[in-house]
Amino acid sequence: MGYNIAIDGPAGAGKSTIAKLVAKKKGCIYVDTGALYRGLAVHFLDRGIDPSDKEKIIEACEDADVTIRYEAGVQQIYLNGENITSRLRTEEAGNMASVSSAVPEVRTKLLELQRNLAAEQDVVMDGRDIGTCVLPDADVKVYLTASVETRARRRYEELKAKGVGCVYSEIAADIEARDRRDMTRETAPLKQAEDAVLVDSSDMTIPEVVEAIIRLCR
Ligand code: DC
Repeated sequence: MGYNIAIDGPAGAGKSTIAKLVAKKKGCIYVDTGALYRGLAVHFLDRGIDPSDKEKIIEACEDADVTIRYEAGVQQIYLNGENITSRLRTEEAGNMASVSSAVPEVRTKLLELQRNLAAEQDVVMDGRDIGTCVLPDADVKVYLTASVETRARRRYEELKAKGVGCVYSEIAADIEARDRRDMTRETAPLKQAEDAVLVDSSDMTIPEVVEAIIRLCR
């Protein structure tokens, strides 16, 4: 069993930024589990499946082979042998992932893959149910969150810096809707594990959050 650090929390809390930095400091591999759900989502989108069509989603799971590889230390997602990493970060894939991840068959499909990764090596794994479900015995568990306003503002600044036109109120509404879906689904909803440490990054800098997590590892 590797040394396992689990970081869960809502969309936009900064999990991937923080998890990557913690992984670097601790010499662990960073596993972004959201990318696995997004990888399956791309498969469903390619099939033209509607996010509300649970039956089709379950059926399509059968011929989806999602794997993870590390190339020059960077996580790559393969779907049926093809590297689809560049297709994961669209709004469409994010929404499909958020809806389809509520289907138990989708979660079961990815569970073993995640556990194997953590068993084979030291990992910092981020997601929604890592501390509660995937790695209940993780060495360190963090629940990383921030207020809706902070998360929406960060996303807004990020998009603006990229030159993407966006409206703050729409971003905030989107984040709230995603929170609701992730927290209220029946299977493995987003919630803080009983033994996880709550870190609210609303008024913290990135180095402060990283340092707080590194301290927990000692
Ligand atoms: O972290 P992200 O935005 O890439 O995740 C996309 C969706 O995948 C998210 O809305 C919920 C789902 N997800 C999940 O259910 N469990 C995880 N461990 C990670 C992501």
